[in-house]
Amino acid sequence: MTVREGSPESELNGVAVLVTGGTGFIGSHVVRTLLELGADVTVADRNPHPDPDVRCVTGELADPAVRRRAVRPGTRAIIHLAAVTSVLRSLEDPQDVYEVNVEVTQGLLELARAEGVGSFVLASTNAVTGDVGAARIDENIPLRPLTPYGATKAAGEMLLSAYSAAYGVTGTSLRFANVYGPGMRHKDSFVPRLMRAALDGSTIQVYGDGTQLRDYVHVHDIVRGMLLAWRAGHTGPLILGSGRSESVNDLIEAARQVTGAPIPVDHVPGKPGEMPAVVLDVSAARALGYEPAYDLTGGLKTVWSDFTDGAPG
Ligand SMILES: NC(=O)c1ccc[n+]([C@@H]2O[C@H](COP(=O)([O-])OP(=O)(O)OC[C@H]3O[C@@H](n4cnc5c(N)ncnc54)[C@H](O)[C@@H]3O)[C@@H](O)[C@H]2O)c1
Repeated sequence: MTVREGSPESELNGVAVLVTGGTGFIGSHVVRTLLELGADVTVADRNPHPDPDVRCVTGELADPAVRRRAVRPGTRAIIHLAAVTSVLRSLEDPQDVYEVNVEVTQGLLELARAEGVGSFVLASTNAVTGDVGAARIDENIPLRPLTPYGATKAAGEMLLSAYSAAYGVTGTSLRFANVYGPGMRHKDSFVPRLMRAALDGSTIQVYGDGTQLRDYVHVHDIVRGMLLAWRAGHTGPLILGSGRSESVNDLIEAARQVTGAPIPVDHVPGKPGEMPAVVLDVSAARALGYEPAYDLTGGLKTVWSDFTDGAPG
């Protein structure tokens, strides 16, 4: 990701930032960009960061001692990405997703309060809103999550709201759309499944008829939006997506074009908690200067090259 000179993102020299989940898909892009901008980054993740030059507190964030080590004196911002991210896993084990996504968030907020950390950025999701039919989703829509995953993210948003109002932590909850990009080979979401199907010739399962609408946003756009929101001191929720909705069938067609593989499809019944449509209004983010740069085909090319030659994104 390139950063414009003079943009808010270019003013991070020496700023101490904790990135939880910094070894993961989105986190590794966030960490790389922050380091490029001169920030003093600490990662906290149960998996060690692959770059030995990155300071990493490796451990389970449910452990208070790990959290205390992660929030070093002088930390100015916490970018909290560590979470149980699988909706299906949350349906199978709602207690576990609560412990990781809510209790860890609360523990980090307490440390932010105690240590005077100025900013807290929470990775949330458009899944906090639930079934709104095909209505356009903006930040004002009531929260009615359909899954434990969505509920825990909504709970995190509420906790952050309280810490913002009561203790002066500048908190923003970024509601990500479906994020894709290089570095997601370990994930089980639909884009990496498509890439694996293209590589090994297997059939891909599609829930329902594939006409359900989704907003697919490239991870580089997410990182840019996150930096803009944080540096602008935005408080409250903010939707970060591409601002375009495409059907699952459109996504499969784009993947076929990019990979040159036929990617056969098997339609299976939908899962509980699936949103029928996701149509996101990103105008609040646009007002902060956010402008998604990737279209689906261009974005999928970056994922495909990551799957085929392992080139870094
Ligand atoms: N990828 C998406 O499409 C998407 C969409 C909406 C929201 N989000 C949110 O963005 C954040 C990052 O997602 P991602 O796709 O990069 O996920 P990821 O699974 O690739 O990364 C999550 C990282 O957090 C770490 N982690 C999880 N629980 C931990 C714990 N208890 N202690 C220590 N480390 C822990 C994992 O080891 C992993 O490295 C998550 O909060 C997720 O809910 C992602």
